[in-house]
Amino acid sequence: MKTKNKHWDSIFSNSEDSSLGWYEKDLTETLTLLGKIEKWEKSTIFISGAGTSSLINILHSKKIPLIVNDISLEAINKVKARLGTSEEKIDWLCQDISQPFYKKIAPIDIWLDRAVLHFLTEEENIKGYFENLKKYLAPNGYVIFAEFSKKGVTKCAGLPIHQYGEEELSKKLGETFKLISHFEHVYINPQGDEKPYIYTLYQRVIFR
Ligand SMILES: C[S@@+](CC[C@H](N)C(=O)[O-])C[C@H]1O[C@@H](n2cnc3c(N)ncnc32)[C@H](O)[C@@H]1O
Repeated sequence: MKTKNKHWDSIFSNSEDSSLGWYEKDLTETLTLLGKIEKWEKSTIFISGAGTSSLINILHSKKIPLIVNDISLEAINKVKARLGTSEEKIDWLCQDISQPFYKKIAPIDIWLDRAVLHFLTEEENIKGYFENLKKYLAPNGYVIFAEFSKKGVTKCAGLPIHQYGEEELSKKLGETFKLISHFEHVYINPQGDEKPYIYTLYQRVIFR
């Protein structure tokens, strides 16, 4: 069996971005949640598994400080090539998001995850993911999740997935996070398949 990064590298090296089963031309849902965050365009945004999403270009063109992670070096190199020399302004990481970070990063104001967390199916890896989130997120920071909902698929990209509802996400984050907004969205992928997602926005609240 391929290691996780090899699996994703081979997907990104053998596919056109616009044919990927999670490709988005229209990023309305994510941008709607970002728009609910005060001064979001001045915030440091962390993308937990960016793939080749055009969201990186949109945020980068607004000069938003970005920390971009993906387990696939192939995906990162594709995006770097797309951005040209301005990619140097982004802090890049290439690691499994469920493992301790291999380098120090700036405090994160907004943690953004679309379709990454749901690929973690082992309890230990999910625990590692939330430990990272809680370690690097700023005291009043925000978290956006867009994951496969309970109504949806059980596999994607040839891998099993874990379906989410807002109750489970709230439980994993714990009581120091407040749910600000959530909605369901049926994403239609380039192949015409319906993929129901849950979108959530949380803020970390520090009790004194
Ligand atoms: C379904 S794609 C979504 C990509 C992007 N977020 C988007 O919305 O277009 C999942 C992405 O997560 C990355 N990924 C999968 N498992 C990961 C892990 N454990 N750590 C970091 N990235 C991971 C993959 O390489 C891939 O780019």
